[in-house]
Amino acid sequence: MAEAPVNLRSEASEQPAAVRPVVLVGLMGAGKSCVGRMLAKNLDLPFRDSDEEVEKAAGCSIPDIFEMYGEPAFRDCEKRVIQRMLDEGPAIIATGGGAFMDPDTRAAIHEKGTSVWLRVAPEVLHKRTRKSKGRPLLQNGDPLETLRKLADVRYPVYGEADIIVESGDEGAESTVAKVLAVLRSAETGTN
Ligand code: S3P
Repeated sequence: MAEAPVNLRSEASEQPAAVRPVVLVGLMGAGKSCVGRMLAKNLDLPFRDSDEEVEKAAGCSIPDIFEMYGEPAFRDCEKRVIQRMLDEGPAIIATGGGAFMDPDTRAAIHEKGTSVWLRVAPEVLHKRTRKSKGRPLLQNGDPLETLRKLADVRYPVYGEADIIVESGDEGAESTVAKVLAVLRSAETGTN
């Protein structure tokens, strides 16, 4: 069973959590978009998705961007899109799984937002992403092995997020409730 939310860094924000953009980070399949949409509805905030914004900016899908322009071009666009979203005021922002790995993006998120890592085991992520065709990094080789390797590299960095929410194989509602509880306790200073 998943643990309760942990690791809210009190120095993370000078403003209440809801006044700053709340930025969801985590590996592919962690539920950033689904949980993000539900959080936004709950908090009456706009929802933004960096993958969607990149696709809009490029005028094509993420697999096509990877194929036609390569991953570095995707990362460059992702970085610019997130910088812009952070300056657009309070919102719930779902980021692509690799976004928080970029040091500039990470620094900007720390400065302007409240980051929330949805931590999910690679085995669960694999189950959730198995049928997806929209994730180029999982199209070649053994996707579970890829997810495990990405977790090895990324989890220590995701661990720099202001809030870490353990999310097992539970429904999105349960994860949303955990994130809301931590955000609210951060606002009232009870964490
Ligand atoms: C990526 C995750 C994807 C997307 C791209 C690269 C990654 O987003 O940005 O395929 O590097 O982990 P999701 O995490 O929303 O699937």
